[in-house]
Formats: sequence, C-alpha cells, structure tokens
Amino acid sequence: MKVEHGGNRLYQAQKWGVDLQTCIDFSANINPLGISPRVRECLIQNLDYLIHYPDPDYQLARQAVATYHNLSTEQVLLGNGAIELIYQLARCLKPKTVVLPSPTFMEYEQAFREVSSDINYIELRPPHFEYQLDSLMANLAHLDSGDAFILCNPNNPTSSLMKKVDLLVLAEECTRKGVYLLLDEAFMDFLEDVESLIPELARFSQLFIWRSLTKFYAIPGLRLGYLVSSHQKMMKLLRDTQIPWMVNTLALSILPVLLEDESYRQKTLEYIARERSFLTSSLQEFSELTVGSAHANYIFIHYHGKLDLEAELGKLGIFIRSCQNYHGLDGSYYRLAVRRHEENQVLLATLKSLLGKEGS
Ligand SMILES: Cc1ncc(COP(=O)(O)O)c(C=O)c1O
Repeated sequence: MKVEHGGNRLYQAQKWGVDLQTCIDFSANINPLGISPRVRECLIQNLDYLIHYPDPDYQLARQAVATYHNLSTEQVLLGNGAIELIYQLARCLKPKTVVLPSPTFMEYEQAFREVSSDINYIELRPPHFEYQLDSLMANLAHLDSGDAFILCNPNNPTSSLMKKVDLLVLAEECTRKGVYLLLDEAFMDFLEDVESLIPELARFSQLFIWRSLTKFYAIPGLRLGYLVSSHQKMMKLLRDTQIPWMVNTLALSILPVLLEDESYRQKTLEYIARERSFLTSSLQEFSELTVGSAHANYIFIHYHGKLDLEAELGKLGIFIRSCQNYHGLDGSYYRLAVRRHEENQVLLATLKSLLGKEGS
C-alpha cells in the first residue's frame, strides 16, 4: 500500500478545484524562507556539470557532512533524501521484529514490511502523544539481538521530542541487548541540534541516525539526506548495495555550501521560532482546538468541532495535512506547517471565519 503524504500540491489543487499558483501549502513542513541565495547561486554555477555522471562515491559531499559533524567519511552514507536511506537500511538490516512508537511517520512501517519484519507499535497517549521513557524501555525488554527500535525525534506528526538524557538511556540498553536503534532526526536542524545523538555516535555501534536536508534547506524537489553510524560492517554493506548515482550532481555540488551557510541557518531558526510562537498562541485562542507543544517547524492540533477542516480550507486554496491515515490517529487531528507571517495570518483569519460560522 502506498503511503500518502502532505505536500502533494497538484493533487490537492485538482481535488479542491483551486488554482495551484495561488494556493498556500501548510501540508508539507518546508522552510518558508525558500532556497538560500548562496545555494541558488551554487546551483546555477554547477548546471554545466550535469553533462557528467556524479562521483559514485560522493567523496567531497560525504567529507563535508563528516567535517560538519566531526565524523569520518566511513560513518556517512548519502542518499536521495532520507527516504531512500530508510528503505536501504531496512533492506540491509532485515530485523525480525521492529518496534515503533505510534503515531509516527508512516514510511518506516512500509519499508520494514517489505523485508517481512513484524511491526509492533507502542501507542503514545493523547492529547500530547509524548514519549515516555518507562513505556519505551518496557517494550524494548521484549526485543532480541538483531531486532530494531525506531524513534522519530522530533516526531512527525506530533512534534513530540525525546530529550537527549532519555535517549542515552535507550541507546545504552539497545547496545547492551544488540538491538538496532534507528533514530530519525529529519527535523532536528530546526532545534539547533541540541537533542541530537550524532555527537554520541562513537559510543553506540548499534545506533543509526537518518538526517534529511530537504526540509530545513527547502530542497524537497532536489532530494538530499544522509545516514550516519559507527557500525562499520553495516555501513559497508549499505554502501556496497546502494544503487549507483542516486544522488545527482547538483545535490552533491550544493552540500558543502549549504552546511556552511550559517547566516541562512540563523535566519531560519529565528524566523521559525517567532512564527511558531505566533501561530501556536493564536491557535490556542480557538476553543475548538487543542494545540500541541511544537518543537520543529510544524504544529499538531486536535479539532473538536464538526467540520472537515481539510476540505473547508482546501476549497479556499489553503492545504493542511489531515492525520487520518496515520496509525493511531483519525480525521480530527491535523498538522500545520509554520509558514511565512503573512501566510500564517491568512490561515488564522480563514479559520476564524470558518469556526466562527460553526459556532453561530
Ligand atoms: C520524519 C521524516 N523522515 C524522513 C522523511 C523523508 O525526507 P526526505 O525528503 O529527506 O526524503 C520525511 C519526509 O516527510 C519525514 O517526515
């Protein structure tokens, strides 16, 4: 079964009969500042290199990631977005059992079902779906060596965050048991890396961490992500069995530039923090909504009214992500990306008019 995602703008525009050019997309969690000027310039400068095959070992780009995180190049695997590396890791690990907290990003289940893993969910509890170390550890107790424990941090779609102190306890126990700990830090850049486990990579050979560059750097159409781990044997197997040239020449060329773009990074962090706080506090004023505490660039809400909010907003050219197809959620939960101030204002004003009518 194919997993449906947010960000499918063409489909949404057709479904709601609205103009693709003027719609506002809150359904994909992409940096609203767009591509940084330095990256744009680099892309233009490298256009002529498209006549060559990409370096099959991705040497310079891997070195850039390794330097950025203070790792060796052997600890880094690049991919065509983090998604490729989720499927590639599933194919190489082939765990008998996989445990994952729910609700979470749906592709893990899909990737590990393809290699016939049994999937066991740990149900996170409403209203905030926070990670509870005790419950995670209790589930870990049932796993054997070679099984896998997946955790998305911060979680998509709930935005729940597991603190590093708790993650370290989980990582210690996984390592002791020989269980693979697979952390998805696709949105960690939005937290200035404070809770990342990458600095601890050398301590835990069973630890694998996915990173996506498509969200923070606003390049979902170009595709770029990486996986880091100290598990030498598995990293070699992953590299040796990866389809060649998955990462294209343009994506490789921008990687060093993008990681060094400190001014874009700071601007993004400040912008997102300001708008996330504005959007959160404004949404909290609606009595029909329960608003989760957001840690990344999206906000998770529970709506208690009778409308189909996705449809009502969609018909007005505003796309939001219904969480109906997430395991453990239903159509009363939604995820909203933090967008530009003026777009956030449009969303709030439209919600006000829709929910105001509902109340009258
Ligand atoms: C939690 C999570 N991990 C990984 C991915 C895949 O990201 P990428 O665009 O790098 O393939 C996504 C995409 O939405 C995601 O939400």
